[in-house]
Amino acid sequence: MKRYILAILLVLFSSQLWAEEQKFEGLQLATAPINEFDMDAVKRGAKFFATNCMSCHTLTYLRYDKVAKDAGIVTDKKPISINGVTPPDLSLEADVRGVDWIYTYLHSFYKDPATASGVNNLIFPGTAMPAIVAPFQGEQVLVEKPMHDLLNQVQWYDLVKPVKQGSMTPEEFDKAVADVVTFLAYAAEPYHAEQERLGYWVLGFLVILFVMMYLLKKEYWKDVKKTRQ
Ligand code: HEC
Repeated sequence: MKRYILAILLVLFSSQLWAEEQKFEGLQLATAPINEFDMDAVKRGAKFFATNCMSCHTLTYLRYDKVAKDAGIVTDKKPISINGVTPPDLSLEADVRGVDWIYTYLHSFYKDPATASGVNNLIFPGTAMPAIVAPFQGEQVLVEKPMHDLLNQVQWYDLVKPVKQGSMTPEEFDKAVADVVTFLAYAAEPYHAEQERLGYWVLGFLVILFVMMYLLKKEYWKDVKKTRQ
C-alpha cells in the first residue's frame, strides 16, 4: 500500500516539476487545440516547418515519410550553431516536452533587451531561440502587474501584451502554431493513427476469441460433468 501511495505522489510531483523551476509563478500551459489525426493540419504544419524552422532545427529521427518529404523536409541536415547553442533536434520533441508545452512556448516570446537575441520566453527563460515567430505574431512585452486568478494561476497571455502587430491576426497565428505542433506530434509518432485503428481490430478480435473460448469450454465441460455423474 505504501508503495502505491509513493508511486502516486511521485507521478503527481513529477507533473509539477516543470512548474517549480518557473520564473513566472503560477504560469499554466495552454492546451494545444490540435487533432493529431487531422492530416491537412499535419501537411500545413510540415510546410510551415520547412519554411520557418528547418533552417535551424533538424528532424534526424523522422522515419521516411511522404508527407514530410512532399513538404520539402529533409532529415539528413547537419546541426548548426546559434550563438554557441545548437538548436535541438525536434523529431521527438512532442514526446519529450508535450504538445501543450510547444504550443505555449511558441506563443510566449517577449522582448527582453537583456538577452543576446533581444527576446526571452515565459516558459523557457533564457532560451537561445531568436525571435522567429515575431514577424507573424508581432512583438510582445511583459505586463507590469499580471492578473492571477483565485488559484494564483496565470496564462501566458496574462503575462504579455502586444506592442507591434505581426503579419498574422491572433487567430491566424494560433492556427499556424497549432498546425506546426500537430506536425511535430505526427513526426514523433507517424504510425499513431495506424496503431489506433489496429488497436480496435485487436480488441474486436479478442472479444470474439473470448466468446468462442467460452463456448468451447462449456462444450468440453459438458462431457466432463456427464462422465462424473
Ligand atoms: C534561427 C534559428 C532557429 C529557428 C529558425 C527556429 N529555432 Fe527553435 N530553437 C533555436 C535554438 C537555438 C533553440 C535552443 C534554445 C535553448 O536551448 O536555449 C531552439 C529551441 C526550440 C524549442 C525548444 C526545444 C527544447 O525542448 O529545448 C522548440 C520547441 C523550438 N525551438 C521550435 C521551433 C519551431 C517550431 C520553429 C519554427 C517556427 C523554430 N524553432 C525555429 C533556434 C531556432
